[in-house]
Amino acid sequence: MELADQTQKFSTNRLMGKVAVITGGARGIGAATAKVFAENGAHIVIADILDELGTTLADSIGGRYIHCDVSNESDVELAIQLAITWKGQLDIMFNNAGISGPDGSITNLDMNQLNSLLSVNVNGIVHGIKHAARAMINGGRGGCILCMSSSAALMSGLGSHAYSMSKEAIVGLARTTACELGVYGIRVNCISPHGVPSEMLINAYRKFLKKVDMKGEEVSEIISERGSLLRGRCGRFEDVAQAALFLASDDAGFITAHNLVMDGGYTSASTSMSFIYH
Ligand SMILES: NC(=O)c1ccc[n+]([C@@H]2O[C@H](COP(=O)([O-])OP(=O)(O)OC[C@H]3O[C@@H](n4cnc5c(N)ncnc54)[C@H](O)[C@@H]3O)[C@@H](O)[C@H]2O)c1
Repeated sequence: MELADQTQKFSTNRLMGKVAVITGGARGIGAATAKVFAENGAHIVIADILDELGTTLADSIGGRYIHCDVSNESDVELAIQLAITWKGQLDIMFNNAGISGPDGSITNLDMNQLNSLLSVNVNGIVHGIKHAARAMINGGRGGCILCMSSSAALMSGLGSHAYSMSKEAIVGLARTTACELGVYGIRVNCISPHGVPSEMLINAYRKFLKKVDMKGEEVSEIISERGSLLRGRCGRFEDVAQAALFLASDDAGFITAHNLVMDGGYTSASTSMSFIYH
């Protein structure tokens, strides 16, 4: 490879000219990914229900914002249409929007709450894959679909029954759609983070630990101490955004049906006997 090509490969232009839709892109992991994608030359459509945050972010990165509740199929279809009318193509679909809950025992699970969660976490991703796949097949230039799963899909006890179930369903759906869509050059992959102190996670800790005024720093400390093999280190928005950048870029051109886990090793090892190494 020529030196110039290598420089290009590791430059900040890894998504030059590509068009991406990011659901749940107004804050947290989605917002960090929108910024990193834009820094790498992509045009971004942020699709969320937090209109003020989403619009401000979209303006700051030269992107577009659209109000989109992912549980509503036509909202997702419109978000993808916006990308096509704006830039004439869709290259990357990041199905990132998700919610947590409902908490508590299976014996008290409220079926309406379960269905509400599934309508966002599972139906939302089905809508995203379905309409992105249509647009990418029509475009005839392949594409990349990313789906947000979680460490809760790999190990029990990390989220509510409904949340864990929804995140495991996403991995299954990503694999089966990768199987169908590979012939069109469309890659479908999952990202499974763990312990990234976002609004969602901080609120969950406040609820579980019954500390309404708990600060983000406290949550980071707890995760850094107990939720990662890398002591003193918890997951960061940037970690997930960089992983999404890699999977969305041509550097990951032969990676599909994969679940990229970013958990500081947490779901791969028990530390209960780690004294044997020290
Ligand atoms: N933070 C973590 O440690 C962690 C770990 C594993 C997976 N995840 C997943 O990452 C994704 C992003 O979450 P986050 O941690 O950045 O939390 P967050 O709450 O900051 O972000 C979630 C975003 O999704 C949007 N959203 C929620 N419901 C929506 C809907 N119906 N339609 C469109 N947008 C909607 C929210 O407005 C918000 O912008 C979620 O799918 C979450 O399950 C997070």
